[in-house]
Amino acid sequence: MGLPDGFRWGVATAAYQIEGAAAEDGRGPSTWDTFAHTPGRVRDGHTGDVACDHYHRWPEDVALMAGLGVDAYRFSIAWPRVQPSGNGPVNPRGLDFYDRLVDGLLAAGITPAATLYHWDLPQPLEDAGGWMERDTAYRFAEFSYLAAERLADRVEMWITLNEPVVVMAYGYAFGVYAPGRTLMLDALPTAHHQLLAHGLAVNALRSRNARAIGLTNHYSPAWPASPADQPAADAFDAFMNRLFTDPVLLGRYPDLMADAPFVRPEDLPVIASPIDFLGVNYYHPTRLTTPAEGPLPFGMADITEYPTTGLGWPIVPDAFLSLLRTLDSRYDLPPLYITENGCSFTDEPGPDGTVDDSSRIEFLDAHVNAMRTAMDEGIDIRGYFTWSLLDNFEWAEGYHPRFGLVHVDYETQERTPKKSYAWYRDLIASAKAER
Ligand code: FCB
Repeated sequence: MGLPDGFRWGVATAAYQIEGAAAEDGRGPSTWDTFAHTPGRVRDGHTGDVACDHYHRWPEDVALMAGLGVDAYRFSIAWPRVQPSGNGPVNPRGLDFYDRLVDGLLAAGITPAATLYHWDLPQPLEDAGGWMERDTAYRFAEFSYLAAERLADRVEMWITLNEPVVVMAYGYAFGVYAPGRTLMLDALPTAHHQLLAHGLAVNALRSRNARAIGLTNHYSPAWPASPADQPAADAFDAFMNRLFTDPVLLGRYPDLMADAPFVRPEDLPVIASPIDFLGVNYYHPTRLTTPAEGPLPFGMADITEYPTTGLGWPIVPDAFLSLLRTLDSRYDLPPLYITENGCSFTDEPGPDGTVDDSSRIEFLDAHVNAMRTAMDEGIDIRGYFTWSLLDNFEWAEGYHPRFGLVHVDYETQERTPKKSYAWYRDLIASAKAER
């Protein structure tokens, strides 16, 4: 079956992972600057200070996107560029950057899709308690309003938050991502405050006539290691897959949040404000075990019977299809966008200078096919964004994993399109020809 008219092929990135220019034009520090500059936090002490230098090289990167023929580009707006203290007046030079980028995209015929929070919280807000504080939700709504005031006339799609579950779990519960807190289940208020931030931002964006508004979640199908581990898998499913979707689409929390003192009854209708699309990020399933002890209701075990990516993530395109089916059966879904899907390998140029990443091509091909099967079954998917356009700063793993369609030499900032770049370009061209 052909793809519906208007289906958007895209690529995705995030500000801290590619921009660099960490102290330029009035940008303030974010939690990720602080975290990366703390010894021992990021592999080999890598930081996003320079990253892919996209802040200066964006015209070249837009040209790379144009060469791919993508319809849309998902990028994120760095809050610490726009409001360095997370509060108060806007730093116009910060917004100027996104203004230039958006105009550059439109001139190249590429639809801008902006994420407002891809994990770079202004450090002063973290100093005041970060997402553990309800006030951060109101600050985020204000920032969203300011960004939309400047850009909503040209940005077609707005994504409030990227993967709030990762911020809660990795950032506040387990301490492996910024801000590096280890609150375990005491991190649950960060879920609610991010969701409240999302709901308030939806309304702030609407008031500035934003065209399409959604939320991007990370989903990982929960596989019990044995039938006896089903309760552990259910607990993980509630924590990872439902906590950030049930309240938005069903207007209620899963049981794990029942009677939480920080949830006010009037918050749920705000969180459930209608959205225009749901963003789905998918990488891999997770195998769950019953923990002998410890604060969490589940443990994790490796999935060993599938091939893996460079990060050891199992490659299971069928799990992507089953995730899409599960979402469809669980909710009365708005249109879906696959806002991230991709894989890392240790891609390096060969002797002839080309980068042969056939494993990425295989991965993407299988996952795009899984998506198309879901669409053939009637699931309303409007676009697919590959993670990522460029190799970039992969959080606590630094620059080691390479997720890009384009190789980046971090010494010279030279960009080399990999074999997968040509493959994706051809896929987009042939999918369009099918219409
Ligand atoms: C996702 C993040 C994205 C990137 C990929 C590999 O969880 O949203 O920034 O790091 O993983």
